[in-house]
Amino acid sequence: MRIYSAIQPTGCITIGNYIGAVKNWLAMQDGNECIFSIANQHALTVRQDPQEFRARTLSFFAQFLACGLDPEKSILYVQSHVPQHSELAWILSCMTYIGELDRMTQFKDKSRKNEDNINAGLLTYPVLMAADILLYKADVVPVGKDQKQHLELTRDIAIRFNNRFGETFVVPEPYIPKQGAKITSLQNPLEKMSKSDKDANAMVSIIDPPDAIMRKFKRAVTDSDNRIVFSEDKPGISNLLSIYSAFTGESIEEAEKRFEGKGYGDFKLAVGEAVVDALTPIRNKYAEYLSDKAELERIMKEGAEKASRIAERTLQKVKKKIGFII
Ligand code: TRP
Repeated sequence: MRIYSAIQPTGCITIGNYIGAVKNWLAMQDGNECIFSIANQHALTVRQDPQEFRARTLSFFAQFLACGLDPEKSILYVQSHVPQHSELAWILSCMTYIGELDRMTQFKDKSRKNEDNINAGLLTYPVLMAADILLYKADVVPVGKDQKQHLELTRDIAIRFNNRFGETFVVPEPYIPKQGAKITSLQNPLEKMSKSDKDANAMVSIIDPPDAIMRKFKRAVTDSDNRIVFSEDKPGISNLLSIYSAFTGESIEEAEKRFEGKGYGDFKLAVGEAVVDALTPIRNKYAEYLSDKAELERIMKEGAEKASRIAERTLQKVKKKIGFII
């Protein structure tokens, strides 16, 4: 199967992204044709400081590699290096209705939160996402729940194009990991852990230093009844149990047993230590990759070339079908 997914280079890659997305990608690398990108064009829908934006894109790419995404197995690239995305996005935007775009939950959400910057890109964002996916004829797209609506629109656009111009695009299936522990904010355990949370204590980045990780877990919001059990009315403790289980491989039940009779303080330390242990090799590899920018950029460009070859084939087909002279 061909698998496509992407992540925007905003905020930082959190342990929530790692457990919910990156770990799934790692598992998919063997036996599938995987393409993963850094969606920096999507990130442009929010104002970016150029210097920071460039650094963050490099950093995200280095984190991909440090996590074990392997350029020998998968295609790893940065969206803006493959101009076919913008080209196809224009064509598809002329086949997508404004009514379809302005009913997207995320557009409405983001417009409400960024009243001073409701730019056209914010509206056409899902068309660019459709172009990402359709260029590569992806069968499966692993995404979070919040992207499901965009994927449905991608399918509608693909079907519409195929009906009008003949079989061209593969209609992709979403893959939304079922149980795949939802990691929530350490400060507000009822909300998803956000990679752009302004409160640094609310999330743990996969490259946070050990002392920061320990501090954040010590300060994690829990409740006052001091029982370490997974339950709906204990969102803070349940979240910590999920994190512990994801990083140690121990089941939630086993973890509950292990911490029976222990206090929250000890438990938080143990969760912090488990996360530090698991992330240390990643942080070390990350530093190594980042210390050689030339090599990092070489890997990046090589990925873009591979991606571009596939994308160009699809784009040529599209252009021919719609009547562009090629
Ligand atoms: N919009 C996605 C997000 O914010 C990122 C993304 C861009 C993406 N292009 C994609 C995800 C293509 C899957 C497929 O999470």
